[in-house]
Amino acid sequence: MTAELPLVERMRPFVTTIFAEMSALAVRTGAINLGQGFPDTDGPASLLADAVAAIRAGANQYPPGPGVPELRRAIAGHQRRFYGLDVDPDTEVLVTAGATEAIAATILALTGPGDEVVTFEPYYDSYAASIALSGATRRTVVLRRPDFSFDPAQLAAAFSDRTRLILLNSPHNPTGKVFTAAELEVIAGLARRHDVLVATDEVYEHLAFDGHRHIPIATLPGMAERTVTISSAGKTFSVTGWKIGWLHASAEITASIRAVKQFLTYVNGAPFQPAVARALALDDDFYRTLAGDLQRKRDILSAGLREAGFDVYPSAGTYFVVTDAVPLGFDDGMELCLQLPELAGVAAVPVSVFHDDRQAARSLVRFAFCKRDDVLLDAVQRLAKLRDR
Ligand SMILES: Cc1ncc(COP(=O)(O)O)c(C=O)c1O
Repeated sequence: MTAELPLVERMRPFVTTIFAEMSALAVRTGAINLGQGFPDTDGPASLLADAVAAIRAGANQYPPGPGVPELRRAIAGHQRRFYGLDVDPDTEVLVTAGATEAIAATILALTGPGDEVVTFEPYYDSYAASIALSGATRRTVVLRRPDFSFDPAQLAAAFSDRTRLILLNSPHNPTGKVFTAAELEVIAGLARRHDVLVATDEVYEHLAFDGHRHIPIATLPGMAERTVTISSAGKTFSVTGWKIGWLHASAEITASIRAVKQFLTYVNGAPFQPAVARALALDDDFYRTLAGDLQRKRDILSAGLREAGFDVYPSAGTYFVVTDAVPLGFDDGMELCLQLPELAGVAAVPVSVFHDDRQAARSLVRFAFCKRDDVLLDAVQRLAKLRDR
């Protein structure tokens, strides 16, 4: 069918996403959908009430292009509070339609045909599509099991005189890896040496477990001026449908990205922006509880997957845990995911779809644990059928 679409060549590989495919399969079979990463409970009641109040108070027209001032101030305040970063809310912050638009606008503003973008794989699927939109070329470096670390020599080899940008994601979807200070220093060193910019997707910044600490690469020496830091409200406040994201960078880089962003969406989410501004200032207890709750959910699902017979890779952050299906007799994760709703009444996604080198993750399957405990316990019970097959 792709062949019949009047679609430009460079976007042809991106017509369907695995999430749509697996979610449709989950609906058709009545399976519990642990494929896509969205929570099944609402975010903080105060946040929801603030958005309703903003609508009633008339915040229903175009907000300012860079985002409402109170949200930009709150983002700067959040970066100072959690990471000690000094960000000017007037010139260095841009509110976007989710992190997805921030990623796309950054890549479109900073790269073009002939340029190269270095990223790790597996990667969040919008990275490849946004790089393709810009006409740049992606150069990927595989994160390898069991700890999903990278080979510094391979990363160094991925850089050339055409490299414009390195695109990083930590905590990392899908592996649950939280990049260490030493790893970030390797990346930062290469960025400085080759004089390239870094875009860092930190949407899971508050979802790090077991005492792992999220370190923004912008906090490393000499990195603030060459880094675009991207995050969003979706994961932190369980409002993935609101699509309020943001980025911060130097005034020059921010102005460049704003030039593109204004012709993508211009603005979005007027009543949600002031509500997110207030939520960012929630007390430490909120952030601690968020990570603690998800850590418990991770433990429920990870234990169940292990019981069911999967090899389970420890997840240090995000909504996700990656498993190896080989012990269950499946060396192809895609094949298992297509059968899993029938076999066990659960849907998941194969990690290979987030790879250029599909063999590197052929037998790996990703499960999301951002669901109510009772849903996870039900899923665990269903998955036990795999062991008894
Ligand atoms: C790594 C990563 N980046 C970005 C996003 C998208 O964020 P948003 O919904 O704010 O556009 C997701 C959502 O799943 C993600 O996992």
